[in-house]
Amino acid sequence: MPSIAHDPEHRLWVLSGPGSSYVLHLDDADRLRGLHWGPRLTLEQAVSLLRYPEPGRRSFEDGADGTLDLDTAGAMRYAHAGVQVRFPDGVRDLEPQPTGEESLHHEDGTELVLRFADRHYPLTLEAHYRLRADTDVIERHLVLRHTGTEADGAITIVRADSATWVLPRLGEYRLSQVRGQWCAETQLNRTPLPYGETVLTSRRGTTGHQSNPWAMIDDGGADEVHGAVWSCALAWSGSWRLTAERMPTERVTLSAGFGHDPVTWKLLPGEELATPVCAGAYTEGGFGAASRLWHRHVLNHVLPHPEEIRPVLYNSWEATEFDIELTGQIALAEKAAALGAELFVMDDGWFGARTHDAAGLGDWTPSPDRFPDGLTPLIDRVHDLGMRFGLWVEPEMVNPDSDLYRAHPDWVLHHPHRRRTEHRNQLVLNLARPDVAAWLHGRLDELLSKNAIDFLKWDMNRPFSEAGWPDADGDPDRLWIKHVRNLYTLLDRLRADHPHLRIESCSSGGGRLDLGILAHTDQVWTSDNTDAVDRVEIQHGFSQLYPARIMGAWVTDSPNPYTGRSVPLDFRFHVAMNGVLGIGGDLSRWSPAEMDRAAEHVAAYKRVRHLVQLGEQHRLRPRDGGELSAVQYLAPDGRETAVIALRTARRFGRDDPALPLRALEPSARYRDAATGVLHHGAVLLTHGLPLELDADDHASILVHLIRDSTP
Ligand code: DGJ
Repeated sequence: MPSIAHDPEHRLWVLSGPGSSYVLHLDDADRLRGLHWGPRLTLEQAVSLLRYPEPGRRSFEDGADGTLDLDTAGAMRYAHAGVQVRFPDGVRDLEPQPTGEESLHHEDGTELVLRFADRHYPLTLEAHYRLRADTDVIERHLVLRHTGTEADGAITIVRADSATWVLPRLGEYRLSQVRGQWCAETQLNRTPLPYGETVLTSRRGTTGHQSNPWAMIDDGGADEVHGAVWSCALAWSGSWRLTAERMPTERVTLSAGFGHDPVTWKLLPGEELATPVCAGAYTEGGFGAASRLWHRHVLNHVLPHPEEIRPVLYNSWEATEFDIELTGQIALAEKAAALGAELFVMDDGWFGARTHDAAGLGDWTPSPDRFPDGLTPLIDRVHDLGMRFGLWVEPEMVNPDSDLYRAHPDWVLHHPHRRRTEHRNQLVLNLARPDVAAWLHGRLDELLSKNAIDFLKWDMNRPFSEAGWPDADGDPDRLWIKHVRNLYTLLDRLRADHPHLRIESCSSGGGRLDLGILAHTDQVWTSDNTDAVDRVEIQHGFSQLYPARIMGAWVTDSPNPYTGRSVPLDFRFHVAMNGVLGIGGDLSRWSPAEMDRAAEHVAAYKRVRHLVQLGEQHRLRPRDGGELSAVQYLAPDGRETAVIALRTARRFGRDDPALPLRALEPSARYRDAATGVLHHGAVLLTHGLPLELDADDHASILVHLIRDSTP
C-alpha cells in the first residue's frame, strides 16, 4: 500500500509508493520544499536530509529557487514560478502560510492535502497529492480559492501549474520528449537539458501535434533497461506549458500546467480554480521501466474501461474519403467483415452537404441524397455482419457553409473587429458557451438515440484562432479552459446515457493525445500517416508514455496514399499489430490473395492481442538506424509472450541478430505456437530468439510463445 508518513516536529512528509518516495518539507520560512524524489526512504531517513546544508547559502541567490514544490512567485526568487497571481492592487508576490493538512481515504489509495493561505490577501491554495496502491505515480493538483468579498475584487491567476517537480542533483541532465507535426507525430527526442528554461507548449487550444505534455529526465546514462528516470505528464487537452528549468546552480525542476501566456483566469470572490492533474513518477530500470509504469497507470487508473480488449476496426476514410454512399459503404463493410473486422467505422462525409471539406460541418443529420432512409439500413447491415457500427463526428467545428453557421454566426470563436481565419474551411465553435454546449449535447444525444451507434470517432481538425467571446459574461479568456472542461463533460454525459458507446479521440491524426482525454475516451487515432515505415518511428515515440491498448493503427493501401511508399502487406500488418489493429485500405482493390492473407493476419492478431493491449511492453530494439526493431509483449501472469520484429532494410548483407527476450522464467520452456519449436527461458533471455526473416527489405515476423507445462 502507498503510505504517507508525517513528522510534525520537523514539518516533513514522506509519500511512498511501492518503489519510490517523495519527501516534502516546510522550512522555517514556511516554504514547501521538495526534499527528495527517488528511492524509498523511511521517515527517519528522510528527517536526516535536514542535516544537509541549505543550497545557495554562500551565494547571492535565494537557495529556495529550484527547490520548491509549492513554487509561488515572490521575494528574491527569480526562477520559473509555478504559481503566479496578480492581486487587484497590483501586488504579484505571494506569501503562502500553512493552515492545515488532511488525509483523504480512497478505495485504491490515499491523498494528502496541504493547505495554505496568503499572509494578507484572500487567497488560499491547496496542494493535493494522490497515491494509488499499485503504482509509484503521484498525481498532484492545485486548488486556488478566493476567500474574500466583492469589495476585494477579482484576483488574476496568471499561472497555476498543476505541479512543480523538484529533481535531485545529478551529474548531468538529459530531457526526453516528443516533437511532431501533422503526419509525423510523437517522434522521440533526447537531448542534454540546456541551462535556462526549456518550454514545451501548445498555444492552440488543444494538445497539439508539435509536442505532447510529458517529459522525462535522466542523468544522460539511462537506456532501455538501466538507469533512473524522473517523469511527469499533464492530464489536459487544451493549451498547456511544461517548463524544464536547469539553473546555473544545477537545480532542475519540471513544472507543468494548463494555459499559455498571456491568457489569465480572473478568480472572483467565492470562486475556486482547480487545476488538472500533473502526475509524476520516479522509476529505476531505464526508459522501458518508466514506460511500463505509465502504461499500467493509464490502464488501471485513467481509461474508463481498462479491462476491455479493443476490437479490430475497419475505417472508410482512406478508401472513400468524401465519396460516401450507402451501397459503397455496405460493400466495404462486407469485405471488412470477411477479414474478421469487428467494428466498421464510417468516416467523414455522411452528413449535411458534406461532399467535400468546405461544407456541412455542424449539420449532423445524414445526407438525404446519400442516405435517403437515414443511417439505419447501413447500421443494420453492419450489425447483421456481426460488427459494431462507428461513426465519424467533429462536434466542435463548423463550416461557414452550413445551416448551423448561417443560423448562429456568433457561436464561433471570434473577435469583433478581426477577420475569422478559416483552416480546412472551418471555424471553431465556442464550446465554453453554455448554449453551444447544450445544443451540441442535444444533437449528439439525438443522433445516438435514433441510431444504434456503438462508437464515435471524435475528430478536431483545427486549432483555435481569434479566440474571442465578445458577449462573454465576464472574462472571455475563460473560454480556453471552459472549452476543454465542457468537452470532457459532454463526453461523460454521452457515455453515461449511452453506456455501450466507445469513443476514439482524433485531431487530424494524433493532435489530441494526453492523459486528460484518455479519461473520457477509449482509444486514440495516432496519425494520418499510415505509412508502415514512418509508423515504426511514430509508434516508438507514442509508446514512451502511452500503452498499445489505446494506439489506433491501420493497415492501408500500398503504395501509401500519403508517402507513395510501397510496403508488403505482411510488414504493414505486423507494424499495425503493435497497437489496436485496424484496416483502412480500399478493400475493393485488394486481390483475393491479399484478402486471404489479411484474414490470416487478423486471426493471428486476435490470438495475441490480449498480450499487446493488456500485457507488459518491452522494447527489445528501439528503432536502430532503419534496420531491425522489435517489441515484446508479455502476459501479466508471464505465461505467454509475443514478439513482433520488423526489419526495414537489410544493410551490408548483415545477418539478423537473435533477440534476447525479457522477463521470462529462466527455468521454463516456451513453445512457438506456430512451429511447435520449444525454447528454453534461460537461453531466450541470454542468447535470444533466433529470427527467420526474409532476405528482402521490409521483412517482419510475429512470434507467439506459450509457456510449456509438460514435465
Ligand atoms: C482527420 C482524421 O485524422 C482522418 O482520419 C479523417 O477522419 C479526416 N479527418 C476526415 O476529415
